Parts: sequence; structure tokens; C-alpha cells
Amino acid sequence: MQALILAGGKGTRLRPLTVHTPKPIVPICNRPFLLYQIEMLRRAGITDITLSLSYQPQKIEQLLGDGSAFGVKLRYTVEPQPMGTAGAFKFAEEMIREQTVVLNGDILTDLDLAAVIRQHNERKAVATIVLTPVENPSSYGLVETDADGRVLRFIEKPNIEEVSVNTINAGTYVLEPRVLDLIPAGENYSFEYGLFPDLLRREEPFYAHIPQDTYWLDIGTPARYWQANDDLLNDRVGRIKITERRGKFEASGAEIDARSIIADDCVIKAGAEIINSVLGQGCHVEEKARIENSVIWPHTRISAGAHVSGAIIGRGCHIGRFAQIGHGAVLGDKTSLTDYTQTGGDL
Ligand code: GDD
Ligand code: MG
Repeated sequence: MQALILAGGKGTRLRPLTVHTPKPIVPICNRPFLLYQIEMLRRAGITDITLSLSYQPQKIEQLLGDGSAFGVKLRYTVEPQPMGTAGAFKFAEEMIREQTVVLNGDILTDLDLAAVIRQHNERKAVATIVLTPVENPSSYGLVETDADGRVLRFIEKPNIEEVSVNTINAGTYVLEPRVLDLIPAGENYSFEYGLFPDLLRREEPFYAHIPQDTYWLDIGTPARYWQANDDLLNDRVGRIKITERRGKFEASGAEIDARSIIADDCVIKAGAEIINSVLGQGCHVEEKARIENSVIWPHTRISAGAHVSGAIIGRGCHIGRFAQIGHGAVLGDKTSLTDYTQTGGDL
């Protein structure tokens, strides 16, 4: 069994965070996101993993290397331009010889993959798609099934009036290599608009797996990126736990709550408060600054008296003294805000 992670999207909805950091490696609680997926694969005994890249591939390769540091064997394919989700699978054809688990590279989940593979094999399926319930299926791929779990309909990004059920494509598939023959080579082609509707037309054995008690989140918008961090901070991600919340950092006379995660080399000055937040490596938080419900990427400085609440702040930013950074602010790397800046809130 091998795996392919689709990690070539541009991450446009996560801009400006993804301008210099491709979405698959944005830090979630200070760890590059893909490491959560690699760990999930490893838990199911899958260590032969291909990363399918297109946008800023060298940054991902540089960080993860051959995978030996994480107990897996990583290989890479790099598309000259994005080939679409199924096109990316076809592009990796030479590496695919057997049943393959395909993952969207932006899903945080504690799914039991071994159970998915078992059910796929029992049913002799050609494709199995994992489902999850969500409140608003319109932003996802809606999947209808019959009582035996056979997929009846697949509608990508349905209009409100097409929404018939709340189960959607969770972005995890088990595929038999013979589906490769149904994907055209050398053109942009997707699972969602192309292969899945085609499998249904051909009446192939295409099944859904509906896991119980499983955490699931697509991290691809700022609100959901924050939610992933917040859920981990508050231990709401089922089988995935944060084991180490504190690196080696300096703090004297600061208040840091038990949930917050502080990386190495941070300096936190007297009277500062850190509440339910993540600080990346080498951040400076000066006197009486307050940070709550926020994620701060490495090497950012929050100056004295500044308040940051409900914000995501990129790498190497400078937040001036007494600035007020309000709910929903997302600042790109190297943003510099003057003293007394105000963002968000009502005027
Ligand atoms: N290699 C490669 N090439 N990867 C790609 C390409 C491509 O051309 N296009 C997208 N990807 C990767 C993205 O990096 C991401 O990890 C994954 O494929 C899915 O793309 P998104 O752009 O995040 O899609 P989405 O979230 O709107 O919808 C998809 O995911 C939903 C679940 O979160 C669909 O699969 C929906 O059906 C599904 O419900
Ligand atoms: Mg997505």
C-alpha cells in the first residue's frame, strides 16, 4: 500500500499566509501541516508516500527531504503547471503500482485509515471515498449513497437547491491502479468533476466509507486555519494530541495560560499576557502586550502595550507599540504596523 498526497494547489483562500509558504506546510501549532498527514499514514502502516507538488515545490522538498526524519520514505512529483487533482494522480502514474491512498493535502483528521482500507477490500471496490458531515455542503463535494454505502451521486460545490444530504467528500480516497486508465494523460482533469462522475456513469464499484467519531477539518481558509490551531490547543482533535507545549524561552513576570504553545527562543517581557495562542520560534512580546486567540508565526515582534486578539500574524512582522489588532486580521510575512495602529472593530 502506498499514498499520494495532493499538495500542489496555490492556497489562494489562505493568502497572504500562502504567498511565501505553500499551504501544505503552513504551521499548525508550530508544526508544518503535512507532518500531521504523514503521521496519520504512518499510524496505518503506510510509509511509501509521494507528494504531488506544483506551487513552490522546492520549499516543501527542502523542509521534508527524503522523509527519514519522520520515519517514512518520501518521493516527489512536480507538475510544470497544476494538472488538477486526478491529473496529478495520472502524472504520478509511474510511481503507482498498487492500491493507493490519495489525500487532499489540507485535511486535518484523526481518521482510522486502516479501517477504510479494510472496508475497501471487503467490498472489492475500485474506489472508496471517505465522507464527513458538514453544516454547509455547498463549499465541498456532496456525496449521496445508498444503504449499502454505494455512491449514487457526486456533485462538486453544489448550489443550495442541489443540497440533499450533509455528507461530503472528506478528501481521502482508496483507489485501485486500474482507475488510472480512465484518466486522460497530459491534461487538466479532476477527481471531482471528471473521474468520480465517470465511475458512476460506468457503474463501477464506487463506495463510501463513513467513519464514526472522527475529527475532520479542511484548513484552507483563515477561519478554518485558526480553528485547526484552536482545536489542537484545546484538545478537541480526538486521537491527535499536542505533547510538547513549551520550548526553551525567556519569560519573566509574564502570564501565559496552560493551553498556549510557545516555541524556542521567544522572549516574553514583564506584564505581557498570552492566552490560548501559538507563538512561533524567536518571537518577542514586549512589556504589557496581550495576545489572545491568535497565531503568531516565527520571528515576529509584538511591541509594548499592543493588543492582538483573534488574529493570524505572519513571519518576521513588527507590530508597533499600543497597536490594536482585532478579530479576523490576517497579516502577511514582514508586515510592519506603526505604533497605535488599529485594525478591525467598529469606527
Ligand atoms: N498536485 C496538485 N495539482 N494538487 C492539487 C491541484 C493540482 O492541480 N489542485 C488542487 N490540489 C490539491 C490542493 O493542494 C489541496 O490539497 C487538494 O488538492 C484539494 O484542493 P482544494 O483547492 O483545497 O479543494 P477544495 O477544498 O475546494 O475541495 C476539495 O476538498 C474538499 C474537502 O476539503 C474537493 O475534493 C471537495 O470535493 C472536498 O469536499
Ligand atoms: Mg481544501
